[in-house]
Amino acid sequence: MSRHVKLRLESRIGYVDLVHEMAEGMARGMGFEKGSALNIGLAVREAVINAIKHGNGMDAAKPIEVSFEQEEDLFRVRVRDQGPGFDWSHTSNPLDRENIFRTSGRGIFFMRHFVDRVAFQRRRGKGTEVVLEKRFEAAGRAGRGGEVMKRRKG
Ligand SMILES: Nc1ncnc2c1ncn2[C@@H]1O[C@H](COP(=O)(O)OP(=O)(O)OP(=O)(O)O)[C@@H](O)[C@H]1O
Ligand SMILES: [Mg+2]
Repeated sequence: MSRHVKLRLESRIGYVDLVHEMAEGMARGMGFEKGSALNIGLAVREAVINAIKHGNGMDAAKPIEVSFEQEEDLFRVRVRDQGPGFDWSHTSNPLDRENIFRTSGRGIFFMRHFVDRVAFQRRRGKGTEVVLEKRFEAAGRAGRGGEVMKRRKG
């Protein structure tokens, strides 16, 4: 059994906090411990900022879609935009010497450190999708989540 929640929002930077808080709060509700939930929230935040800024070019008329998916063993968040995509096989490493003083180019790097899996997909004619996944057992779960799991299975 899985539970999915979907959001469709205008591309407004003001919505970044909302999605960030939802992601963190849902992760907590699923039983992720505080530190893991914070990381999930931050990863989702970076993905949403990128979708609004780079994907949709801050054009409020172009929606973003965020889907929160609770699976048996992991929490998955998909962030979709309407943009042309980019070459994600060539993202720069902010720790490289030449990048050390740059103040941007860190979002994807953070995402990769905050969750277990970051994947990009181009949806033909429909934009870009970033998939973020965090596994329950890798993160450790607090007692409450265990209860939720038991109830869901029972
Ligand atoms: N959804 C997207 N659509 C199009 N291009 C993207 C998208 N996400 C990222 N990019 C491209 O990848 C680059 C790296 O993204 P990343 O989030 O790491 O850095 P940044 O957004 O430039 O800066 P920062 O996140 O540190 O403020 C971006 O500059 C942009 O060119
Ligand atoms: Mg970014």
